Amino acid sequence: MIGKINALIHVCGAVCEEQGEGAMAMNILGISGTPRKGGNSEILLDAALEPFVEANWNITRVLLSEKTIRPCVGCDTCAEGKGCRIEDDMCDIYRAYEQCDAIIISAPAYWRNVPAQLKAVIDRTYASKNGVLKGKLGGAMAVGRGQGGGQAMVISAIYNFYLSCGALCVPADINGVTAVADKPGDILSQPRRLEQARALGRNIICYARK
Ligand SMILES: Cc1cc2nc3c(=O)[nH]c(=O)nc-3n(C[C@H](O)[C@H](O)[C@H](O)COP(=O)(O)O)c2cc1C
Repeated sequence: MIGKINALIHVCGAVCEEQGEGAMAMNILGISGTPRKGGNSEILLDAALEPFVEANWNITRVLLSEKTIRPCVGCDTCAEGKGCRIEDDMCDIYRAYEQCDAIIISAPAYWRNVPAQLKAVIDRTYASKNGVLKGKLGGAMAVGRGQGGGQAMVISAIYNFYLSCGALCVPADINGVTAVADKPGDILSQPRRLEQARALGRNIICYARK
């Protein structure tokens, strides 16, 4: 299924066409916040995106392990309506924000918080178009090596980000998805967690139809 997601991401135009004339394709933006390629956050994100393949949504998947996004410098150029003066991969995310109907962020706990790479994205969102995520749906997933290792705080940080943007938080079973895993790929041996990630995706699709 993960291979299928990769294939569909690269042909998302074709996915639109398959939905027939007049049908408006919905767009999901998935962001993996780990700087580690092939990390547990990326795997959880792919599981959460699986239901969107079946539901024929367009999928934009952003892996921060492949991006260079510098931190906000607080210059306030954006407050003058001139956008962000830093030119880097954040441009892709600004564009994806405008196109998406829903967003899922998956991230590891780093010192019981989000990694610097994801915090940079959150801070740089300050320069995005006003209200770009307002009323859109948001899901959150967190992984850490320890039981109670700060996953709840990572979920809270992501939810606070959504709420600050006017986005709506969508739960998996009862909250965000939290997992205990350490080495890259550890999460693959936890089918229940992967199923919770899929449940989050299914809930977002379900809420979007209401
Ligand atoms: C700089 C750093 C800080 C970390 N801090 C925590 C922590 O506070 N709590 C925790 O449970 N795990 C912590 N970990 C472990 C990672 O959360 C864990 O390895 C996770 O599986 C990494 O996710 P990834 O595979 O998506 O990169 C830390 C790892 C690093 C590199």
